[in-house]
Amino acid sequence: MPVPADNGIEVEDLVRQFKNGPRAVDGISLEVKPGEIYGFLGPNGAGKSTTVHMLTTLLPPTAGIARVAGFDVATEGPLVRQVIGAALQEAALDPHLTGNEHMRLQTALQGLDREDRRARGTELIDRVGLSDAADRKVGGYSGGMKRRLDLALALVHRPRVLFLDEPTTGLDPQSRSALWEEVTRLSKEDGVTVFLTTQYLEEADQLAERVGIIDAGRIVAEGTPAELKAEIGRPSVEVVPRDPARADESAAILKRFGRPVPAAGEALGVRLSEGIDELVGIVRAFDEAAIELASLVLNEPTLDDVFLARTGHHLEGDEGAGDSGEIPLPDGATAG
Ligand SMILES: Nc1ncnc2c1ncn2[C@@H]1O[C@H](COP(=O)(O)OP(=O)(O)O)[C@@H](O)[C@H]1O
Ligand SMILES: [Mg+2]
Repeated sequence: MPVPADNGIEVEDLVRQFKNGPRAVDGISLEVKPGEIYGFLGPNGAGKSTTVHMLTTLLPPTAGIARVAGFDVATEGPLVRQVIGAALQEAALDPHLTGNEHMRLQTALQGLDREDRRARGTELIDRVGLSDAADRKVGGYSGGMKRRLDLALALVHRPRVLFLDEPTTGLDPQSRSALWEEVTRLSKEDGVTVFLTTQYLEEADQLAERVGIIDAGRIVAEGTPAELKAEIGRPSVEVVPRDPARADESAAILKRFGRPVPAAGEALGVRLSEGIDELVGIVRAFDEAAIELASLVLNEPTLDDVFLARTGHHLEGDEGAGDSGEIPLPDGATAG
């Protein structure tokens, strides 16, 4: 196997224009440092999988340059493929084979010798927590078990760069944390570079060292989760007046406390100019104006705020909006 100079990823102005289709990736540039976990966060259809397909040489770029471990994806495909592992969204598993049988096939395909095969297979199956299910047919596996097996198969040849396309979408919490643990271990202990796509804010926030936020084929923000949230800075407040006819008055009150921000549904949002201490003032102001609130929600800055600030809309399909501290009100319907 060729020894790469380092195992980072460099992407410059990468484009993928589908024939008679969208410009799914519209000139993205990014850099992933060796051994880093990079989270590629974006909603459905943002261009995440198309990017991964180009970086793993499954799809040729229309324009731009991408190097994986120093190898050009367009001209050095075979070298790229030797140093990467990939667990893609559409895992190619045979329902009639067991976990162990998949592993035996994969270790043989990757050219491990006979003695190594069993030991490596057992180690990987164990590492993703599938030992008890290893002799069952994959057809009976849960979604999470399939994703974990797919990850184990991608690790057989000890890749230096690992691509995971939405590895935890639809997973139960237990499978999700098992996967997070293994990804962290691969990066920290083995120095594997991990390029991981996700729709989950929480996953990008907790697992990734650096995050690129993609929307409609373009990177709209990049940095560590802490840097990105610090750009937003102060928390926001969302209120829903019980009487929709009083929305304008409510908006005028909120404006006294900061800059209006988009909010979902009937809610009105404001980014607090001073901070959380203003909450009392807001409650008092609504009380004085005799405007009843159906709900009042305080939101610490999240990556969704970063997304919203850059794109004007929320990330779809997110179930883990995270840091929202909701203050219950009498028969309060929640905002959004
Ligand atoms: N093979 C293809 N042909 C035409 N359009 C495609 C193809 N694959 C993806 N697309 C389109 O490209 C856009 C980005 O898709 P994708 O990269 O799969 O997004 P994501 O993985 O972020 O959900 C979408 O509009 C999708 O419909
Ligand atoms: Mg996808």
